Amino acid sequence: MDDERTLSPALTQADGEIELSLRPKLLREYIGQDKAKENLSVYIAAARQRGEALDHVLLYGPPGLGKTTLAGIIANELGVNFRVTSGPAIEKPGDLAALLTNLGDGDVLFIDEIHRLSRAVEEVLYPAMEDNVLDIIIGKGPSARSIRLDLPHFTLVGATTRAGQLSAPLRDRFGVILRLELYTPQQLGLIVTRSAGILAIAIDADGALELASRSRGTPRIANRLLRRARDFAQVIGDGTITCRSAQTALQSMEIDELGLDLIDRRLLTVMITQYRGGPVGLETLAAAVGEEAVTIEDVYEPYLMQIGFLGRTPRGRVATPAAYAHLGIVRPDDDAGPAGPPGSADGQGRFF
Ligand code: ADE
Repeated sequence: MDDERTLSPALTQADGEIELSLRPKLLREYIGQDKAKENLSVYIAAARQRGEALDHVLLYGPPGLGKTTLAGIIANELGVNFRVTSGPAIEKPGDLAALLTNLGDGDVLFIDEIHRLSRAVEEVLYPAMEDNVLDIIIGKGPSARSIRLDLPHFTLVGATTRAGQLSAPLRDRFGVILRLELYTPQQLGLIVTRSAGILAIAIDADGALELASRSRGTPRIANRLLRRARDFAQVIGDGTITCRSAQTALQSMEIDELGLDLIDRRLLTVMITQYRGGPVGLETLAAAVGEEAVTIEDVYEPYLMQIGFLGRTPRGRVATPAAYAHLGIVRPDDDAGPAGPPGSADGQGRFF
């Protein structure tokens, strides 16, 4: 994935420190994801009342939606330590054993990209999650023996872009599974305004909404656009981000009114011009645009689907009439009458 892309939801080094300062610490400061918040607040209160560790929590959804932030809030609301690691960072069972044996009672262990744990590491995780024990094999061959260590009661919070990527035995061990949704422009407007307050950036309500409506439903992108818009407002304006100066900034970064960048538009254009709007298989599409299939699935598709520009069918991806209209491309069968809404079947048995 191209991490230099302004609209990439991936966490870049430049985002890192600033994102940390913007992270809300309490559930009530966390904007959006109302259903997940509501349920979590009950589970957290119940665990606290019983004096027990919270059950293991799996958070899934597209990148940049605040899974790490929410995990930190869970630890904070429980009043326990928060330990952060990721699937790829835990290379060997011994790495996980070291993490687990250093936890305190009730602590939260957060594993980002949990779908990337190796089989061998997963095997160690199962008894740890289920029975709070660590099975360690000492020695090799006929003299090998297994010893069992007791672990503190802890809460594993796992995060993944798709729950379907997780092995079934691992998924089954989470008592709470929460799906995070893309944010609405209104919610992102609140997030941008809150972030601007923390970073002492001058922005008016229209400026915030303009950035919010072009952030692909993703707080990480909204916060990044806020910083870029500040640069433009400072250099070519009077320092305050207004609707106008935000538009100038976004135009200069080639981000269109809906938040699509060059790669989104290329994806749709390739589907339309090379594959007649689809259906086109994911792998074929990935090769045609020079991106990895998982990147298309995790990063580009969720937003394009949310705004009704792309559909998934059993035979592949399709560009909807709304995508044609946005790109200003006339559909070949438009002569037959006005296009139906996205997702409906037209008279020729095509997806739209
Ligand atoms: N920063 C990133 N995500 C956020 C959220 N959901 N609420 C408040 N601030 C955020």
